Amino acid sequence: MTAINAVTDYTREGEVGVITLNSPPVNALSAGVRDGLAEGMAAAIADAGAKAVVIICEGRTFIAGADITEFGGAQKGASLFDVQEAIEGSTKPVVAAIHGTALGGGLEVALTCHYRVAVPSARCGLPEVNLGLLPGAGGTQRLPRIVGAQRALEMMTSGEHVPAKACLEMGLVDELVEEGKLREGALAFANKIVAENRPLKKVRDLDDKTSADRGHPEIFANFRKANARKFRGFLAPEYNIQCIEAAVNLPFDEGLKVERKLFGELITGSQSAAQRYSFFAERQAAKIPDVPDDTAVLPIAKVGVIGGGTMGGGIAMNFMNAGIPVVMVEVKQEALDRGIATVRKNYERSRTAVPAETEARMARLTGALDLEALADCDLVIEAVFERMDIKKDIFTRLDAICKPGAILATNTSGLNIDEIASVTKRPEAVIGLHFFSPANVMKLLEIVRADHTSKEVINTSMKLAKKIGKIAVLVGVTPGFVGNRILGQRQREANKLIFEGAMPWDVDRVLYDFGFPMGPFAMSDLAGLDIGWVKEKSKGETIRDVLCEMDRRGQKTGAGYYDYDENRNAKPSPVVEKIIKDFAAKQGTNTREISDQEILERCIYPMINEGAKILEEGKAIRASDIDVVWQNGYGWPVYRGGPMWYGDLVGLDKVLAKMKEFQAQMGDVFKPSALLEKLAAEGKRFQDLK
Ligand code: CAA
Repeated sequence: MTAINAVTDYTREGEVGVITLNSPPVNALSAGVRDGLAEGMAAAIADAGAKAVVIICEGRTFIAGADITEFGGAQKGASLFDVQEAIEGSTKPVVAAIHGTALGGGLEVALTCHYRVAVPSARCGLPEVNLGLLPGAGGTQRLPRIVGAQRALEMMTSGEHVPAKACLEMGLVDELVEEGKLREGALAFANKIVAENRPLKKVRDLDDKTSADRGHPEIFANFRKANARKFRGFLAPEYNIQCIEAAVNLPFDEGLKVERKLFGELITGSQSAAQRYSFFAERQAAKIPDVPDDTAVLPIAKVGVIGGGTMGGGIAMNFMNAGIPVVMVEVKQEALDRGIATVRKNYERSRTAVPAETEARMARLTGALDLEALADCDLVIEAVFERMDIKKDIFTRLDAICKPGAILATNTSGLNIDEIASVTKRPEAVIGLHFFSPANVMKLLEIVRADHTSKEVINTSMKLAKKIGKIAVLVGVTPGFVGNRILGQRQREANKLIFEGAMPWDVDRVLYDFGFPMGPFAMSDLAGLDIGWVKEKSKGETIRDVLCEMDRRGQKTGAGYYDYDENRNAKPSPVVEKIIKDFAAKQGTNTREISDQEILERCIYPMINEGAKILEEGKAIRASDIDVVWQNGYGWPVYRGGPMWYGDLVGLDKVLAKMKEFQAQMGDVFKPSALLEKLAAEGKRFQDLK
């Protein structure tokens, strides 16, 4: 065996030269890996005894893509194109041996190999779109030549990781080899192609799929139309589509030029910068400085959920999906039956519902009417009414009932968890697990650390979140925690703006155009204006009171802030406009023309400022954690990073100046945080905080 460099070996087995990469954690195409491949290929070509070459990786995966950490830096070592040319132009057949994931640049390297074999558990994909990019190493031109335009469109605009079996069916992989025996299987395959004297198959020369798609522009038009909503605001999906169009309509080298140009635009743009930042932000959020990864993880074999409402049911489904049995507790049989029936309905309604799977999951759910049923649970999550007295009562009882070592969690969306923990004799076991509605769908989990929460309980909760497919962010106890506390700022300004001259649809339009899935008033209409509204207590003091009293309770009643037609299409409401104007007149507010820019700055800048206060108070570990919360729990557009990233992008000096201006005009709710002042004075960004 010859060591090519620190991450690459070359060896020969019979007539096959084997290049082995070993660059943990994911064999990303760093300078070392690229050099290793280039020199490994040179060694294989020079090796007279080698009649074929296998490229294989050690560790958990085949090459998982370009090394994202190198983006933006000066290029070192061999270029990826040099490597690909060496492989594709090789006079000896080259076989990629794939396990784990062949993603992005990894799959693009494999696509320059003449053949590809994989174990059944392997997956292949071009996920660049999720980083705001397109495959920039020929992938956009080669993939459609194997799988055709339609499948390439689907794969490249979703970034899906396609299982090996489907890859085999599409021709992306030539042969599957036995699980756990990749090396042997790849060697046998290489020997076979040598023995059969098979040709050097170059994907770039294939034309049957692309020529069949040529002259059918409707493939692209239909795809754009069907996905317009999903792609709204994002540049990368459209750029990927244009590259596939080029693959279909242009010769290979011309198509490559289009790919090059569009890749260059994306990689230097702000969207990809935000999306790459988000990739690392999400992974960073899993790291808690004072809770090392080797902290004990408590076994969670059974979970209790108190409350069978929408929230409780959604929470239960997460664990049932992960194979963990759940006991749901309600006070009345009727409520329990309803709760269980709702869970079943959710499964049956889901697009991927398979009856047998629904039954298997439902079999993990049992119901009970007494908290005593939670005695043997390892984790209990309370998801009842947001009232401190009720929560305290439940936790007092749980303390007496639950076994030692059990985690006692609350799903409160903002109450003081230290106060809840104080009624127990085991505050170290108490933690907040704040799920977002619908809890079986939304990715975010705010994990709330109270004063006495133990490190084991935190680590167990973080690991469990990953197991149930959530993105967890650890936050501290503060009213509304991180997400809702920041939301409060936007809500306050939105509510004020409609008295000053902007209409609800103006505010919604600006935030929708910014990239949110919907604005705050459309959101209220969707959720129902009467959530938490009590008819008997309503005094017509707010717009909401008036609307609810008029039975304009949102989409469900056909009217709210908007008027709705029978298909629930919203229209600005002249009735609401009049109510708002009357209200403003009664309050003596001077209304004025409000620009879209002011709406945006009034809604967004106080959120950035609140994020800075949260950091100052140590309620979030890092600025990027706040962004992870807002992207995954509140629909902040991924291509704008998050409130803190966006603040950096605008420039903290500009945000500060605007906040001061607003403060002078409208008072201290706009008072800039000390951290914002400090960073702006030093010319720094939130990203510079370490
Ligand atoms: N570059 C640099 N680091 C990477 C990386 C990459 N492409 N992919 C993963 N990593 C790092 C992660 O940051 C993480 O580091 P830490 O342990 O320090 O946090 C570590 O590898 C493990 O990653 P995960 O925690 O995500 O591990 P996983 O097992 O859950 O997932 C994975 C593995 C599926 C490969 C996932 O990491 C992933 O999706 N990676 C990105 C793949 C990708 O987008 N590739 C395309 C890159 S762009 C490109 O290739 C452009 C081009 O056309 C030339």
